[in-house]
Amino acid sequence: MNRRAFTEKSLKALMSYGLMSSLFQTHAIGKHILPITKHWAIELNDYCNDLRKSAISVTEWQSQIESLFDSIPLDDLLKFIDFEQLVKSFDYPDLGVNTRKVTFPKLDGLPERTAFVKKIFGMKKDRAIIPHGHANMSSAHLVLKGEMRLRHYDNLGVEDYSMLIKPTIDKTIGIGESSSISDEKDNVHWFIAESETAFTFDIIILDLDDKPYNIYNLDIYAKENQHDGNFRVPILDVDTALKKYGKESHH
Ligand SMILES: [Fe+2]
Repeated sequence: MNRRAFTEKSLKALMSYGLMSSLFQTHAIGKHILPITKHWAIELNDYCNDLRKSAISVTEWQSQIESLFDSIPLDDLLKFIDFEQLVKSFDYPDLGVNTRKVTFPKLDGLPERTAFVKKIFGMKKDRAIIPHGHANMSSAHLVLKGEMRLRHYDNLGVEDYSMLIKPTIDKTIGIGESSSISDEKDNVHWFIAESETAFTFDIIILDLDDKPYNIYNLDIYAKENQHDGNFRVPILDVDTALKKYGKESHH
């Protein structure tokens, strides 16, 4: 078989496996999306590496990532992560949310394994990312679709089976808006979808300072008011928490 015949045969084989379409897609991304998102994705990874090395503080990371989220045209990001494909046949649970792993296109200057975990979170109306706090991790969340009621609290300390918290944010957020958590600032979050469906894009860094991360599901409706405006809230196991907070009921 000469080279040309071989090439034609290979191309046919590629097409028969549907690979040509994905090759052309990669090409299209390279041509139209890359200039903005390439720089953006590398910067995102750099800030996450800086946080891992403690070259920046967690609160610096929070504000840098949120301004990066603010700077990227949403349409470019949606194409970059192939949002359309990710939400195709998305499995919306009756309680709480579902997630899908996000893959970035291959880029020069971006390691295949990024310094962060990247996912989308999706949910139906009235479903929640149930209220929870975190230890030894940071994350940032950008609304890709829909509207959500978002509440945040500072973690003032975990004691026995409860956490002392201070309310910091309570607002409705929509497409293009973001929030973030860390051990230092806005540690507890709670999202409830107010639109038919809602999606966030999430950047997560686990096991900061080489300590294992932890998540505390919180029973905020059972809060004990403190004299200073803070609350003490019980810590729940995940099943109990999902039953109570996974789906908001309206009375
Ligand atoms: Fe979280």
